Amino acid sequence: MCGIVGYAGNAQAAPILLDGLSKLEYRGYDSAGVCLYSEGTLKVAKAKGRLMNLSNMIDGGNAVSGTIGIGHTRWATHGAPSDVNSHPHMADGGKIVVVHNGIIENYLQLKERLIKAGKSFQSETDTEVVANLVEFYYEDSHDFLTAVRQAISRIEGSYALGLLCVDQPDTLIAVKKDSPLIFGFGSDGNFIASDVPAILSYTREVSYLNDGDMVVFTKNSYRFYNAAGDEIEKTPEHITWEIDAAEKGGYEHFMLKEINEQPKALRDTISPRIKGGEVVLDDIKLTADYLKGLKRIYVVACGSAYYVGCVGKYILEKTCRIPVEPILASEFRYANPILGEDTLVLIISQSGETADTKSALMEAKAQGSRTLAIVNVVGSAIAKAADDVIYTWAGPEIAVATTKAYSTQLSVIYLLAMYIARQLGTVEQEEYAQVLRALEELPEQVMKILAPENIEQIQYYASRCFSHKDAFFIGRNVDSAVGLEGSLKLKEIAYVHSEAYAAGELKHGPISLIEDGTLVVALATVPELFDKTMSNIKEVRARGANVLALTLDCFDEEIHKTVERAMLVPQTHLLLQPSLTVVPLQIFSYYVAVMRGCDVDKPRNLAKSVTVE
Ligand code: F6R
Repeated sequence: MCGIVGYAGNAQAAPILLDGLSKLEYRGYDSAGVCLYSEGTLKVAKAKGRLMNLSNMIDGGNAVSGTIGIGHTRWATHGAPSDVNSHPHMADGGKIVVVHNGIIENYLQLKERLIKAGKSFQSETDTEVVANLVEFYYEDSHDFLTAVRQAISRIEGSYALGLLCVDQPDTLIAVKKDSPLIFGFGSDGNFIASDVPAILSYTREVSYLNDGDMVVFTKNSYRFYNAAGDEIEKTPEHITWEIDAAEKGGYEHFMLKEINEQPKALRDTISPRIKGGEVVLDDIKLTADYLKGLKRIYVVACGSAYYVGCVGKYILEKTCRIPVEPILASEFRYANPILGEDTLVLIISQSGETADTKSALMEAKAQGSRTLAIVNVVGSAIAKAADDVIYTWAGPEIAVATTKAYSTQLSVIYLLAMYIARQLGTVEQEEYAQVLRALEELPEQVMKILAPENIEQIQYYASRCFSHKDAFFIGRNVDSAVGLEGSLKLKEIAYVHSEAYAAGELKHGPISLIEDGTLVVALATVPELFDKTMSNIKEVRARGANVLALTLDCFDEEIHKTVERAMLVPQTHLLLQPSLTVVPLQIFSYYVAVMRGCDVDKPRNLAKSVTVE
């Protein structure tokens, strides 16, 4: 959601900015722009639509010269996607140019005052207010840094900002609060960016800015300040992963690549945490005394991460005997949750930057609950703010729709469940050992599901189903929770209207929607509930549904007595089955989306990192 790149160096800036923005496309955007200091002025070029439009407009960067500049991909919040609402925004007097990620909450009041002070506005954005506010103060002090500081002190909301001033052509200022921003230490210039892939071709030495941090830099100098305005030191962190990890590597889409990366991501997440037959979570500090005092666990997250929580409820309650409530982060703060020392708040987030999730975390902390975050991005805001963090080692996830992050989050839930259950004595040694063994085998089993012959079969099923307008996912117990994720995948990337229901609920309403040819994806992987789910399958078939089943390979023969098409997964420990069940659902949605001609990696209206509420 909005991407920022900035560069001050010796090379031509425009191609670097375009390249950096292309690496941030995964965040979702609807327009793009750059501003360079060029021949005595600040030159802005921006265009609605894909980055290609901007690139064509400035001839791949060759049409604008200059060695310092800022670039932006915008995901519209205030004002429709349009050329004029695109960033960068120039202040009325042409002195200041700004790119921004976040939301300025008091922009209307500020705008009113600035208009009274004689400033005029071109766009509907909150960002243009920042440009004019900085310029307003600059006209007084003629000091760029002072003006930025004064403006920041008046702004409420979230921001990562990159700013240029026409009178200080060698300097770029960046500041952040509640939106991600990193600084890159280059050998031939310095960078800012919303995320590492944007600058990884140029430098591996980065520093994550904390809330309130500001950096003032040129091509060969940088100074960092904290929120209080004191100069601070920042030590570079060395990025070890390769740019390939953020590129397609021969796959047609990032999503397909990331689906195929799941065995490795699972292995990287699980293996280091099982040592000598025990779950070892060195990174967290939940003592047996603390766990014994727990009355409840809230699992707080958005979207797919929330659906991990829905599966997690079954796993954690079954093994730890503590009530678990998954709750959407956007609802959490307003639901008056029961917080305090006896409530653990488990936060799940791939990006670690999701605004609602972060706000929920802060609320939980403020009300005295311990927070434990499962996060993929090291150094992200949620990782920094939580009391404890368990990282999923999924590597960078670029496709907007999550796959490997979901799987690794789920694997951490199993590890955590075993860790807690062990300390509480709520799991038998034999079951504990079985779960750990099954966890270690999980990557191999996912690999089997990803075998070419399986993928081809799912692809074939997708070819028989891709023209459906509606779909219903049904299942019982953990299958009902995995169905939520399968359904979300289909709607978000293939634009198929899709709902997920606990199969037993069908008769209480949704079955009235089943008619001739309706697609029903029926999950039946829980052996003790197989017959019950089969009855539900028969009920929808009797009303004309076109059923695609998903079950264990040991039920191959049985399922085919009732349905023609079935996706099969190997059996694992009951608790871990969702980790296998979800994989064919990801593949199915992927191929349905491809066959429907959708932009799989960048579905319409969606952003990878939702940094506004
Ligand atoms: C769906 C998807 C989203 C995210 C959600 C939370 O495929 O990716 O639903 O799961 O936006 O994002 P994070 O995990 O970054 O907090």
